[in-house]
Amino acid sequence: MSPDVSSIFRPGLLDGQVALVTGGGTGIGLGISTLLADLGAHVVIASRKPEHLAGAEAGIRARGGAVSTVALDVRQPEAVKAAVDGIAQRLGRLDVLVNNAAGNFYAPSATLSANAWKSVVEIDLYGTFHCSQAVYPVMAAQGGGRIISTSMTLHYRGWPLMAHATAAKAGVDALTRTLAVEWAPQRIRVNAIAPGPIPTEGVRKAFTPPADSGVPDVFAAAEAKMAEYARKGIPLGRWGTPEDIANMVAFLASPAGDWITGAIFVIDGGEWLAKGGG
Ligand code: HXC
Repeated sequence: MSPDVSSIFRPGLLDGQVALVTGGGTGIGLGISTLLADLGAHVVIASRKPEHLAGAEAGIRARGGAVSTVALDVRQPEAVKAAVDGIAQRLGRLDVLVNNAAGNFYAPSATLSANAWKSVVEIDLYGTFHCSQAVYPVMAAQGGGRIISTSMTLHYRGWPLMAHATAAKAGVDALTRTLAVEWAPQRIRVNAIAPGPIPTEGVRKAFTPPADSGVPDVFAAAEAKMAEYARKGIPLGRWGTPEDIANMVAFLASPAGDWITGAIFVIDGGEWLAKGGG
């Protein structure tokens, strides 16, 4: 039974469903985990960091949601497969995968270390592939499923100091379109969301440019400055929230999205169209 919480979606919309949300213990991922659980899904939150798992699990349980956790680094394909197989065995199915885990930071391409490049591309792109590949047999055997991956808008144009993340997210877009076509016969719908600026703690940290880089620090401290940026830089006039993103994930996870696959939804208040960045 769904908890008694307010949402534009009907209570019980995802009753009986099982959803895995990577990086689902903080920020945007936590918003997604919370809404899916509110709508009746059993949500499995995956994170590398145990401290992110415990708090998120307790918070969702306190709302009446069904939730469990798994410690997981999406860069490790064998561990991903073991985690997914464990969920399928324990809960009997896996209907929704949200590839939300991401790593990001500003760094000049000329001096980016090989390991720094690898870390971000492995989390954002390889991780998305590893998790998608791991859920495929489970979803195919049960007659379908939904994969929703997190992209962004920064790679729609050049974005200095983000070569690693923009390359990885461009790969996520390509992967989304290809898997959508390849796995449609198995009724696995594969879509992506591209969030604009949402001032969660993780995003603020990742999007703080090095001093003297010439890149504007859109999350720079003062709330008044942030409000001014939203007024001038975001056509819809405000920063995004995790709920803005979670609502699209819930829509895509629900039967309302039954004829949607291979789509990438920009959710950014119109920012990149106006400005060329996310
Ligand atoms: C240059 C850096 C760096 C930085 C790390 N490195 N931070 N290089 N500038 N700011 C380098 C390290 O020196 C090291 O290279 C390599 O990257 C790996 O670093 P580790 O800390 O050992 O790796 P790890 O512990 O695996 O951490 C992965 C990480 C980290 C990506 C580096 O930042 C992380 O865990 N991030 C997860 C949380 C996160 O970033 N969330 C934000 C997502 S926001 P060397 O050569 O020294 O070994 C997002 C935005 C969405 O994605 C779009 C909004 C518009």
